[in-house]
Amino acid sequence: MGRENFGSKLGAILAAAGSAVGLGNVWRFPIETGQNGGAAFIIIYVLCILVLGLPIMISEFLIGRHTHANTVGAYRILSNGTPWKWVGRLGVFTGWFILCYYVVVGGWTMQYTFLSVTNAFYDVPATQYTNVFNNFVSSPWLPTLWLFIFIGVIHYVITRGVQSGIEKSAKLMMPTLFIITLFLAVCSVCLPGASKGIEFLLKPDWSKVDSTTVLDAMGQAFFSLSLGMGCLCTYASYFDKKTPLAKSAVNVSFIDTFIAIMAGFIIFPSVFNIGMDPNEVGAGAGLTFVSLPNVFQQAFGNGSILAVVFSSLFYFLLFVAALTSAISLHEVATAYVTEEFNMSRKKGATLVTLTILVLGTLCSLSFGPLSGLTLFDRNIFEIFDDLSGRILLPLSGMLISIFAGWVLDRQLYRDEISNGGDLKTPYFKMLIISLRYVAPLAIGLVFLDQLGLFEFMK
Ligand code: TRP
Repeated sequence: MGRENFGSKLGAILAAAGSAVGLGNVWRFPIETGQNGGAAFIIIYVLCILVLGLPIMISEFLIGRHTHANTVGAYRILSNGTPWKWVGRLGVFTGWFILCYYVVVGGWTMQYTFLSVTNAFYDVPATQYTNVFNNFVSSPWLPTLWLFIFIGVIHYVITRGVQSGIEKSAKLMMPTLFIITLFLAVCSVCLPGASKGIEFLLKPDWSKVDSTTVLDAMGQAFFSLSLGMGCLCTYASYFDKKTPLAKSAVNVSFIDTFIAIMAGFIIFPSVFNIGMDPNEVGAGAGLTFVSLPNVFQQAFGNGSILAVVFSSLFYFLLFVAALTSAISLHEVATAYVTEEFNMSRKKGATLVTLTILVLGTLCSLSFGPLSGLTLFDRNIFEIFDDLSGRILLPLSGMLISIFAGWVLDRQLYRDEISNGGDLKTPYFKMLIISLRYVAPLAIGLVFLDQLGLFEFMK
């Protein structure tokens, strides 16, 4: 059976950008930026992308495209029988693990889109939004229903294949996502008092920058760019020989950062418009599902058509962003199962989907009927989140950079990024220096910091 490729360079870039642009761009980046020195944080973040993110992204692209194999296969081929083959396995496992709880939040975005469209937030008192959210996530059926629908959509796209599933959906969803983002940002920026929000987001304040800020920026860059597991490697295995790897990596990083900054333009002008303290809005689920529905109602007029449109589009945007990321995570596992166990794509995808249905449901129910099941005071959802984000992700990122810098053949590396000598690669030396020394060290520090083993110059 022949292996499919993406049909066009644009399709390839949009698919990879779809993986990168996800919940992380909306629910973590803006608030981190606002609280950590605005433009100062953005500058540090961009430096992290240049110094760490791009070299690792280029390496993942290269490993995938060179081998034209799923992530486990790719590392097996390149490791020549050494234990480095485990890096691929770790990547696939981590991706699958992240997917199990990511889909739960994907379901929530659908519920909130639904609530927004039906104007259910009309006249909800500001103090009640926490209850609305808690009642929803702790109920046994509704979140599970949305979870199943969300997984169903992923499954549909994946079974249609690389070109008519992943690529086609990315070509439809990514432009949609851009347009909605720009529209929402413009609406929010036009609100009275918006300039204070923009100031909060952008005004550089270097006094807020310390070593933790830098570690946060690195961790965020890593998650946001979908590095550290098979996603980009798997997508790159569908790139053709002419796709320029470095340029594609720059494009994907640019799109990802642009959307993250735009998310800040959507959120903060509205927060300041209603006179809310930006340090009170929270982050993650609290920000997205408790603070923001309230903020939007108040900023655009309780129950007004504008509030309905704005809120609906915002949650739909989150849905699309989460969906394209979840598809990329599913594809990592599907490619692995399909190729390593010689199954049809349909069978492989179904197998992966079934495991996610089961574990996703467990994660989902851990806010309700299963909330008693905890380990170290963390429920199942939080365990999945912690384990993958804090431990597996930085670990596998560090191993990838060491592998790319120290183990991969230098000539092979040069051949691949120059597309066999067709492209100039003046950055080659810097890339290797980063992969050999800077990235492993920096990610190692993030790792220790996440584990809490290490208090860096506090
Ligand atoms: N990058 C996505 C986000 O910002 C999430 C994601 C998708 C991811 N694939 C990944 C994170 C692989 C880490 C690794 O939400």
